[in-house]
Amino acid sequence: MRTVTTLDELRTARFALKGTVGLVPTMGFLHEGHLSLIRQAKAECEHVVVSIFVNPTQFGPSEDLSKYPRDLERDLSLIEPLGVDFVWTPTAEGMYPTGYQTWVEVEALTHPLEGAKRPGHFKGVTTVVAKLFNGVQPHKAYFGQKDAQQAAVIRQMTRDLNFPLEVVVCPIVREADGLAMSSRNKYLEGAHRQAALVLFRALSAAKDLYETGGRDAEKIRAKMREVIEAEPLAQLQYVSCANYDTLDELDVVQGKTLLSMAVFIGKTRLIDNFVLG
Ligand code: PAF
Repeated sequence: MRTVTTLDELRTARFALKGTVGLVPTMGFLHEGHLSLIRQAKAECEHVVVSIFVNPTQFGPSEDLSKYPRDLERDLSLIEPLGVDFVWTPTAEGMYPTGYQTWVEVEALTHPLEGAKRPGHFKGVTTVVAKLFNGVQPHKAYFGQKDAQQAAVIRQMTRDLNFPLEVVVCPIVREADGLAMSSRNKYLEGAHRQAALVLFRALSAAKDLYETGGRDAEKIRAKMREVIEAEPLAQLQYVSCANYDTLDELDVVQGKTLLSMAVFIGKTRLIDNFVLG
């Protein structure tokens, strides 16, 4: 399997592909969640391109870009058996050369939830995803539901900027005990790994409430808070019960609804979500 780095190499490799192309953008340190995106792309497209790029512009000043886990060799060995056409591994200098000054920003959808806690994050995400789309020119691009707001923001950007491609959002892949797969799970050991299950427990408790007829969104948020606050190693950042499309917080649950949360387990920040309705 080939890897390409520069834009020239990318263009040559890309335009040698005839037929439909699926792109799976990643920041590497791949897990089963990423592999499920690649498998779905393989099932739906004649060719598949994976990008691996730890995008510096989506990390805030207090978020440690240099500590983000990386292991390119391991990533390539996981991708190899899946029959990907090639992997694009751009460099930071290639993506953002000296003098770089163009940004893509989605407005209202990026204001709540992750956007409120991680200022500038989505501006970095949408800018790099637009550049990945322009570079690869895929017919379909695959993202995980785990980053629910990211998926919504990328769908919005794709519509607003007329990118001629379909955004495909694939289900969350979980460990057997319910923990959503994430590259950051690597930091969870012993008691912290156990405590991390509190996100799944809180979402499950909220879903139970909904399934027994609960429609008061504040009661659903309170239930999630109560479960998280009972876990001594957890520190809640936010819980949300919002309209799936607009991400506006609800008073009454109606239609497709996103339950989501961000929780620190020790120093590791985890997010998770369930969709209702
Ligand atoms: O979800 C991710 O891994 C990243 O945010 C993405 C979409 C690859 C952009 O850097």
